[in-house]
Amino acid sequence: MRVLVTGGLGYIGSHTCVELLNNDYEIVVVDNLVNSKMTVIDNINKITGKNFPFYNIDVCDKDALEQVFKNHKIDVAIHFAGYKAVGESVEKPLKYYENNLLSTIVLCELLNKYNCKKLVFSSSATVYGKPKVLPLTEDCPLNTTNPYGTTKLIIEGMLKDLYISDQNWSIVILRYFNPIGAHKSGLIGDDPNNTPNNLMPYILKVASGELPVLSIFGADYDTSDGTGVRDYIHVCDLAYGHLLALNKLNSGLYYYNLGTGIGYSVLDIIHTFEKVNQVKVPYKIVERRAGDIASCYANPSKASKELGFKAEKNLEDMCKSAWNFVIKNR
Ligand code: NAD
Ligand code: UFG
Repeated sequence: MRVLVTGGLGYIGSHTCVELLNNDYEIVVVDNLVNSKMTVIDNINKITGKNFPFYNIDVCDKDALEQVFKNHKIDVAIHFAGYKAVGESVEKPLKYYENNLLSTIVLCELLNKYNCKKLVFSSSATVYGKPKVLPLTEDCPLNTTNPYGTTKLIIEGMLKDLYISDQNWSIVILRYFNPIGAHKSGLIGDDPNNTPNNLMPYILKVASGELPVLSIFGADYDTSDGTGVRDYIHVCDLAYGHLLALNKLNSGLYYYNLGTGIGYSVLDIIHTFEKVNQVKVPYKIVERRAGDIASCYANPSKASKELGFKAEKNLEDMCKSAWNFVIKNR
């Protein structure tokens, strides 16, 4: 089976490419490098011992993407490409609507034209907005608190309409919780092109001395220690979830949470990181970040029952592997 992976050089995409190649899928990768680097290709090759075709193109560029469909018979697509910085999406909403929506529309048009109506889409726990009940099941109400989240919600609606219009489509929508950690080789990891927004990449910059101090956004939430609680999942577990999702692409439209079901606070993450890696992460408490919620964690039982998905790695593995990636790339 040949899988078109858009955004395949990014954080989650690169780990998924490794899983796909290690499990004998053929892949074709498309990425415009807006948030990734060409060196990721060599590192995927090193880890897997396999090569793959790569196209440095924008998924929104229909003519360029169509050439990929002409060059390769695609069986299924996994669509990671998109912008993901919540804060930036508030400042530049049109940039987010344009890239995230248009890339998905163009991809689906070509999947339709080349009669390969099978898609796995990267959605996010952000579509649950401010949760009314926890843990979150897939049928919880949907709502968003920022333009990035709204792009994911609109795309989910668009894919549902597409499926209603033509039930030959087969679509799996994966709602990721908070991926952290890195491949055990230390060759690929979370390596954004600009200053990170997310907690773990920021911790890595502080632990390595590149940034002086971590700001904890609020210690007055209604949580065990007052800091925000999230469901952190090892990126390799998350990547494996995509292989399981591919098995579901026979017909139908499915939604799955990919999380562990366990919530950890910001202080839990810092303390575990310091303990397992024997490094200090200086921090200070600052104001809450606009749009943040107190707690968010998954009920992962639907993915477990229907896909056979279970996150294997614990928080210590996540913190160790994240730091290993930094050490190996110093
Ligand atoms: P990432 O930024 O590391 O990877 C995205 C990749 O897509 C990058 O390599 C980027 O260069 C590429 N890209 C972006 N727009 C493109 C375009 N128009 N054409 C071609 N390539 C393009 O992000 P990630 O963390 O790997 O996230 C992957 C997907 O998962 C995204 O859709 C994101 O919204 C979603 N997601 C991520 C998280 C998270 O915490 N990382 C959580 C939930 C959902
Ligand atoms: N945090 C800090 N300091 C930082 C960064 C984050 O205290 O410098 C805190 C946040 O306030 C939050 C927790 O760490 O309590 C996690 O924050 P992240 O920015 O790492 O992650 P979010 O849960 O805010 O959002 C992430 C992605 C979204 C995705 C969501 C899915 O950024 O795209 O997970 O759950 F939708």
